Amino acid sequence: MDKCEFIVENGKMMKNKILRLREKEILYPTVLSPMAGVTDVPFRRLCRTLSGNRLGLFVSEFVSTDGCAGEALKKRKELIFGAGERPFGIQIFGKHPERMAEGARVIEELAPDFIEINAGCPAPKVAGKGGGAGLLKDLPRLASIIREVRRAIRIPLTLKCRTGWDETNINVLETLKIAENEGVELLTVHGRTRVQGYYGLADWEVIGAVAESARIPVIGNGDIISAEMALDRLERYPVSGVSIGRGALHNPWLFGQIADALEGHAPREIPLEEVLGIFPKYYEDMLESGATSPGALGRLKQLAARLCKGITPENPEFRRHLLSSAGAEIFLERLETVREELRGFHFSPDHLVNLNGKNEDELQFGSQFKK
Ligand SMILES: Cc1cc2nc3c(=O)[nH]c(=O)nc-3n(C[C@H](O)[C@H](O)[C@H](O)COP(=O)(O)O)c2cc1C
Repeated sequence: MDKCEFIVENGKMMKNKILRLREKEILYPTVLSPMAGVTDVPFRRLCRTLSGNRLGLFVSEFVSTDGCAGEALKKRKELIFGAGERPFGIQIFGKHPERMAEGARVIEELAPDFIEINAGCPAPKVAGKGGGAGLLKDLPRLASIIREVRRAIRIPLTLKCRTGWDETNINVLETLKIAENEGVELLTVHGRTRVQGYYGLADWEVIGAVAESARIPVIGNGDIISAEMALDRLERYPVSGVSIGRGALHNPWLFGQIADALEGHAPREIPLEEVLGIFPKYYEDMLESGATSPGALGRLKQLAARLCKGITPENPEFRRHLLSSAGAEIFLERLETVREELRGFHFSPDHLVNLNGKNEDELQFGSQFKK
């Protein structure tokens, strides 16, 4: 990294990339993107620890406020967060303005740093029912949700959206204007349409255009897999930060590597020994947070499957061996035995072209969902 314009010195980000949430300056312009079934307390702790506490913002997995309010809502596991995970936001989804406002009011009592509205989830059971990315087809409803939620809480309100419903309805600039007018304080744009789902590549030109015309901070989201890519997006587009989802599963050290680069150092390469070494503590943390052993095994495999893709040269045999483990203890034992087999292998996830497992490397194509 020969050029670094955003060096952190004496606890201050130098130059023009200071991510602010209301009056608060966030030291690192990075966000661990919310991922349901992934970014719970143990995974967030993993990313935070491996970054050396140099991760900007944390967001919960999304939680529905439509069907569940009051004390029942407060008991949802998605709302749990640890002391070190600040600033922390809780993300809500739904389609009913009053219920979302009521949910937000209840959630505010748990003292998160911000509440985020989800206008990006593409899943049929969410978007098909008018919530998540479904709100991009009904901007007046989105406006009224933001208005009601805004009225219900005092802490900052943020919004996460996609570029639009499909390629003929790219309306993210309208979404931005509504967000600004209704009091949203930070907007994260995932550069895909709902119909794209997770296929194709994110359109960073659209993200850049939104950031260019915004009066509020805009965070860009989509496909970042390396520190080099993160710095490139921060330099090329007027975004205030980058949000990283699947890239963190492929490489949970990524936030630390980005911080290294921002601080003017070469991002640290991760020895394979260290990669294999993260699993026992991750497992322990999952059990401590209430996961069952089979549930935790699923999560060990989820992470291993992604991490293995970054091991070179490719070794499908090793991957299969780990992923076929019938129990968590067997998985952890096998990790020990493969240590020997993996001499001469390296962890270098930067080479991954895209994150959806398809041979797709062009912009604006591919559709996972019907229009
Ligand atoms: C398994 C999974 C679950 C996700 N759950 C959420 C969610 O709860 N809320 C949300 O706003 N986005 C969710 N997303 C979308 C990500 O936050 C992110 O916007 C998307 O993956 C693109 O960023 P990436 O290319 O860095 O992964 C999810 C994505 C994945 C892969």
